[in-house]
Amino acid sequence: MEEQETNSPIVLTTDEINCLELQNKRLVTDYKAQMLEDRHWTTREFTDLLNLDCNLNSRRKVVLEIGCGVGNFIFPLLEEKINLFLFACDFSPRAIEFVKSNPLYNEDNVRAFVADVTTDDIFTTLEQSTVDIVTLVFVLSAIHPEKFLKVLQNIFLLLKPGGIILFRDYGLYDMAQLRFKAGNKISENFYMRQDGTRSYYFSLEFTSELLSKAGFEVVNISYIHRRTINKKDNIDVPRIFLQAKFKKP
Ligand SMILES: C[S@@+](CC[C@H](N)C(=O)[O-])C[C@H]1O[C@@H](n2cnc3c(N)ncnc32)[C@H](O)[C@@H]1O
Repeated sequence: MEEQETNSPIVLTTDEINCLELQNKRLVTDYKAQMLEDRHWTTREFTDLLNLDCNLNSRRKVVLEIGCGVGNFIFPLLEEKINLFLFACDFSPRAIEFVKSNPLYNEDNVRAFVADVTTDDIFTTLEQSTVDIVTLVFVLSAIHPEKFLKVLQNIFLLLKPGGIILFRDYGLYDMAQLRFKAGNKISENFYMRQDGTRSYYFSLEFTSELLSKAGFEVVNISYIHRRTINKKDNIDVPRIFLQAKFKKP
């Protein structure tokens, strides 16, 4: 697996430009657009980034993983024995039950709870200005773009001054975006998958502007070009993610 950081997505071929234009011909209905996604992603790439901010000698950091799913990110992190307290929320009660049934789940260092981050739910569990780091990993892409700002404003309130967001999600012109046929596009860079789940593809400019609007400073932001290569099976899958770090001043 190779990863490369850049400030640009890719140069589109004429076929790809035609495909993006064709997607505009038939947009999916609002009803279908309400259906929500629940997919699992490993987030090991992010642990390094988090380690940088959680030095063992410092006081116990409070981390909030939003949209934790079944805990693919939190459990490897707990095994690292970093000095932190982990809150993990998801709007799926089934996901939270699953997290709580893991043998590593121990309320001395982790607390999972149900909350819809597009509402004020989260403030029934967490007080304002109490969180050091929020992780947002392949979650915002599943939320309707009209609610992005509300989600980020909630995170802003939760973070302490100087607190950070670690963000990783689908990048503009990711292979999956280019493959959508007409009939799958909901709005600009926002699509409905075959299985009814939704996905937004983030550009560097859009994301920086959105986060600035919510009051954050951009610490770093780049596209991650990742190739998953398996020579034996002749597989070479190029993916584009957007990875960033934002700070509450
Ligand atoms: C693709 S999964 C990512 C899971 C995890 N972050 C990971 O990387 O393994 C997206 C998760 O976001 C959750 N989610 C979607 N919308 C949400 C919302 N409005 N509030 C809280 N969680 C949400 C879904 O239930 C799902 O578990």
